[in-house]
Amino acid sequence: MQRRNTYNLAERIIDNRDLAALSSWFKKSPRLTQGELTKKLEQEWARWIGTKYAVFCNSGSSANLLAAYALLTSGAMRNKKVIVPSVGWATTIAPFIQFGFEPIMCGADAGTFALDAGHLEKLLKEHDAATVVLVQVLGVPANMDTLLRLKKTYNFLLVEDACAALGAEYKNKKVGAFGDLSAFSFYFGHQLSTIEGGMVNTNSKELYEKLLMLRSHGWGKDLEKQSRSRLMKTHAIDEWHEPFTFFVPGFNVRSTDLNAFLGLRQMKKADKVSAIRQKNHKVYAENMKNVEFQKWDAKAAPCSISFGALASSQEHRRRIVKALDANGIETRLFSAGNLGLHPFWYNLYGKFNHSVSDKVHSCGFFLPNNESLSKKDILFICGVVNSVKP
Ligand SMILES: Cc1ncc(COP(=O)(O)O)c(C=O)c1O
Repeated sequence: MQRRNTYNLAERIIDNRDLAALSSWFKKSPRLTQGELTKKLEQEWARWIGTKYAVFCNSGSSANLLAAYALLTSGAMRNKKVIVPSVGWATTIAPFIQFGFEPIMCGADAGTFALDAGHLEKLLKEHDAATVVLVQVLGVPANMDTLLRLKKTYNFLLVEDACAALGAEYKNKKVGAFGDLSAFSFYFGHQLSTIEGGMVNTNSKELYEKLLMLRSHGWGKDLEKQSRSRLMKTHAIDEWHEPFTFFVPGFNVRSTDLNAFLGLRQMKKADKVSAIRQKNHKVYAENMKNVEFQKWDAKAAPCSISFGALASSQEHRRRIVKALDANGIETRLFSAGNLGLHPFWYNLYGKFNHSVSDKVHSCGFFLPNNESLSKKDILFICGVVNSVKP
């Protein structure tokens, strides 16, 4: 079969037309720092995901950080216990450690590799955790019916880390629209990119306003006029002092209008890109043999950042990686494997073992999924993997 020389895990989604448009925009001497384009992107993003509000920041990690701190200071948590996933990303969990939550790790589901509902329920019964963090692993949606049923029964706040799941859907609703707060990443190689960038989505006006203040030093300048007036009245502040009054202990994790300009260009391709990645993912699933991969609910539409698979053993994975390398197909570890086996976690809480999470750690690997790949390319990649017997 005729083939390309290389199959990269990530390809540039910011294309030459985007760069040309950016260059023309530069010539108009725009303000560049956070401004009107950021607001426009936030509105378009909130509409696309299906939440009331969105707050643009400088990375997916910052989005998780803002979400964690907004929750902590919301007064809505009955305790500081938080159930965190073992498969995801270090900065899914890190803010909860940094802010003094009490994290409890949950094993991975054998199908989606998101939270294992059985283990989650056991932990909820045991610890009565006020908060649960769910990663929508690689853009394969978790079984939201089950998780939302548990949310109702055990009354927890849900933080949805959808950083690598832009465009994935569950029952025709975009992931990231299920949590009390959700996070997205626009890093290079993700479904959509603003170079670096992140977004926090929510339906709560209170959390939204808190996020706006936390994002920029703790001031109220980004709030709408009515809310600013309310704060001025509550704190008896005059107009001279108001712009530089700090209402909450904040960060500076803003992005810029330059990144928002690129984000708005990405929004124009969002539906097209999602459809390609959804289609590619299905081609992989229909043609992959000898390895396990993430399974999804019939009600879900995965839109993956990479196709994640598990070899039958570490030795099988070694041979698959060798075959992929020999054919110019880029691969790597499955996300971060089991986060409970990383020093940042076990130095504080001890090693976490769980059969599925451990298998992701020792046998997992990534295959490319991006919009540059044709069906023929994916069939070729499947052929290489399938040729390596367990
Ligand atoms: C699940 C998850 N959370 C958080 C992040 C961090 O996003 P960023 O690289 O934009 O900080 C990533 C990065 O890919 C991720 O996959």
